[in-house]
Amino acid sequence: MVHDYIEDELSKRSVFKSEQFLSIDYVPESLPHRQSELRTLAQNFKTLINSPGRTSHKFIIEGPVGTGKTAVAKRFAEQMVQAAERRNINLHNIHINCRVNKTAYLVFLRALREFKPEFPRRGHSPEELLQMLVEVLDEEDRYLLLILDELDYFIRQRGADILYDLTRLTDDQLNARQRVSMIGIGRKIPLDEDILDSSTLSTLQRNILRFSRYDRDALYDILRNRVEMAFEKSSVMDETIHVIADIAAERGDARYAIELLWRAGKQADNDQTDIVVPDYARQAKADTHPELRKEIFSTLSPQHKLLLLATARQLKETRSAYVTMGEVEDMYRSSCEEYNEEPRAHTQIWEWIQDLNAHGIIDTKRSGSGQRGQTTLIGLSEVPAEMLESYITTILDSQEL
Ligand SMILES: Nc1ncnc2c1ncn2[C@@H]1O[C@H](COP(=O)(O)OP(=O)(O)OP(=O)(O)O)[C@@H](O)[C@H]1O
Ligand SMILES: [Mg+2]
Repeated sequence: MVHDYIEDELSKRSVFKSEQFLSIDYVPESLPHRQSELRTLAQNFKTLINSPGRTSHKFIIEGPVGTGKTAVAKRFAEQMVQAAERRNINLHNIHINCRVNKTAYLVFLRALREFKPEFPRRGHSPEELLQMLVEVLDEEDRYLLLILDELDYFIRQRGADILYDLTRLTDDQLNARQRVSMIGIGRKIPLDEDILDSSTLSTLQRNILRFSRYDRDALYDILRNRVEMAFEKSSVMDETIHVIADIAAERGDARYAIELLWRAGKQADNDQTDIVVPDYARQAKADTHPELRKEIFSTLSPQHKLLLLATARQLKETRSAYVTMGEVEDMYRSSCEEYNEEPRAHTQIWEWIQDLNAHGIIDTKRSGSGQRGQTTLIGLSEVPAEMLESYITTILDSQEL
């Protein structure tokens, strides 16, 4: 008899009812424990709808990883747009990830293309693009709520001119309608006199909303909701949810909590059992690290990944906290060979190391004047080398370079 693998797979039982509710892009309707933050935003931005065009708002959301900054901003922006729609105001919301759109030019181009999809890529300065954006908004009588996510990363790489540009935009045209408001999001956004003029600085400092880490009760509530959405009835033991909330409470990170929940469910499916027992959660903890975040790794180029792989391997091999730039380069060349990639030159590699540092994945420092002489030392910020190696190998193996 021929074995039908498809029927086999289809007839397998699963603890999941709708796994997509555990995916990283999913933003739930309700966000428990963020009601007061949503209210604060609503209070601050309501004039955009009450008296459109009169003022422009600049707001900053700051807080540790996985505390719901992105989710809250998305939910809030969506509700703003709906409220505006009900009143026939053309409010538009654009959520830009500044890790992907890495320069002011790309950010403004992305925004402009929302209204002029065919807009060509070359031939304009960022300031010109911004000016054109405002013209389009004026012509079409639209308003824009621009959300700059991962802005801290952007500012570390590029400085804060983008904030200055957006603020000056409104100063320059005192009597004109204010078309663009902004919410900037980051873990810790460097706001000080070194990088910002004092008027931009004082505007922003008055408008910072800080998100705190979730405690275990909050995490429990968040997980409970997801369990109901994503899992078959009574397939996840209450005790399992408690164990996950306890583990994730150390960091207060909802993303990590949800990932553990998903992995625990996957393990139950692998074992073909109907119940997600607490041990699956503990096992999930051992198998992953909260810093291995899919959203970040998916924005890295294959070459960045190879370099990271080389760093992890070198660190694993030498069992030390830091390795030298030279050692990493050697390992990088052999990793390139393994994956049939052409290795790049030193200056390029050096730039990538700076990128990875800015992403917070690796940690660099200058060596002291010890026996190794002056060189750059590279370590990993948080993830154990072996775990990072296997994570990256899995990604590299699963996609054609
Ligand atoms: N209050 C909440 N209720 C339900 N789900 C939440 C809540 N807060 C966060 N989440 C979920 O947790 C995950 C992480 O949240 P989010 O992406 O908003 O974190 P973040 O603060 O933007 O983190 P990062 O600094 O890493 O960007 C998302 O899947 C989000 O839907
Ligand atoms: Mg975020």
